[in-house]
Amino acid sequence: MEKFIIQGGKPLTGEVTISGAKNAAVAILPATILAGGVCVIENLPNISDVSASVRILSEMGAKVTMLDKSTLEIDTSCINSTAVPNELSRQMRASYYFLGALLSRFGSGTVAMPGGCNLGPRPIDQHLKAFTSLGATDSVEYGMINVKADKLEGAHVFFDTVSVGATINAMLGAVRAEGQTVLENVAKEPHIVDVANFLNMMGADVRGAGTDVIKVRGVKKMHGCTYSIIPDQIEAGSYMVAAAMTGGNVLVKNIIPKHLEPITAKLERAGAMVEEFDEAVRVTRVGALQATNIKTTPHPGFPTDMQPLMTVLLSVAEGTSIITEGIWENRFRYVDELVRMGANIQVDGRVAVVEGVRELLPAPMRAADLRAGAALVVAALAANGVSEIDEISHIERGYEDIVEKLQALGADITRIERPSPPNSAAV
Ligand code: EPZ
Repeated sequence: MEKFIIQGGKPLTGEVTISGAKNAAVAILPATILAGGVCVIENLPNISDVSASVRILSEMGAKVTMLDKSTLEIDTSCINSTAVPNELSRQMRASYYFLGALLSRFGSGTVAMPGGCNLGPRPIDQHLKAFTSLGATDSVEYGMINVKADKLEGAHVFFDTVSVGATINAMLGAVRAEGQTVLENVAKEPHIVDVANFLNMMGADVRGAGTDVIKVRGVKKMHGCTYSIIPDQIEAGSYMVAAAMTGGNVLVKNIIPKHLEPITAKLERAGAMVEEFDEAVRVTRVGALQATNIKTTPHPGFPTDMQPLMTVLLSVAEGTSIITEGIWENRFRYVDELVRMGANIQVDGRVAVVEGVRELLPAPMRAADLRAGAALVVAALAANGVSEIDEISHIERGYEDIVEKLQALGADITRIERPSPPNSAAV
């Protein structure tokens, strides 16, 4: 029952340091199982999705030691279970990566069936297609999905749809299979390359990550290593949008500018200035924001996870912007909240027509999901007056120290705990 109170209307200025990438971390942590030894993982973001993954590893018998705030030593030689604890796996959808890692190392794995979620249907048929192509069988019992195989053998998998999760799970499944696996029509996001690099550091032979075809030659043994996770492209993009939205001047540090190109291009089109350095970008905005159209597509296209943030920005741009969501069926649920702030947005299925208004007004709001929540924070930072955002646990799944980072940029944001109402026991 926590919420953010934001007194908006101040331009953000200063520097912000970006944390490690959530969507790489939630795959790399299960992948440590493949080492069957000690891995040191650096640049881990301190967010609730990471703590849930770490709790899963610990409950399955791994020995986890915190070396510093963003570094863990994980010894997976002592894993003594191939079933992910039900309660924990339900907390985060990415627990499906444990299936690939457990299948690969032990020949079987069980996790809770990932349910539908806020973004629309989220099937895992392509993950299972990869596992069964490698020789596994799958079954669903009591809401749990089981995969098992006496032996995994290299295979040719052509994915029907480009899927980040299925690409990573297929790599996890294939690294110890006998012979070569060819994965075609794969996702190319920076975190796919990061996971492949991590697997190779553990002794795997994965080539082509970042292109449409990945080839994996199965190896007999893998080992521990030290690995540093890439910076979070979406966290960086979120602060870039916040700087542009508030007419600020922010140096976004510890990033890989190449990963941000689709975001940078759209911000410049919308009227912000983006100056690139080796490991940082500076975002400033002096003039008015301008309308621009956006269509989300798999990498290197414009990332769906930035769509709500850009919609917020364009809601106060001069002119009409058309936003088309190309990945998820149901990713405009936050628009109702923006409309209550005075935005003029019409949604029809996967398309939103945004008529720019002069300003957004403060309002009480509710975060529907992680990126929608971040988008509402940015909207509130720009609205003159006090806004409240509820259900911030969604936001804390993916943004490390968001309050402290925004405060350091001059934002007036506080996080308050509210007592639970009577009889509100979890159901
Ligand atoms: C990852 O989800 C990210 N999550 C999402 O980020 C992100 O929105 C998404 O990729 C797309 O970039 C993690 O990495 C943990 P997909 P994932 O499989 O892997 C369909 C955030 O805010 N599909 O690439 O689950 C699916 O329905 C989160 O950080 C199938 O049809 O996404 C969707 O339309 C939200 N069958 C499309 O593919 C499958 O077996 C892309 O999904 C798998 C997916």
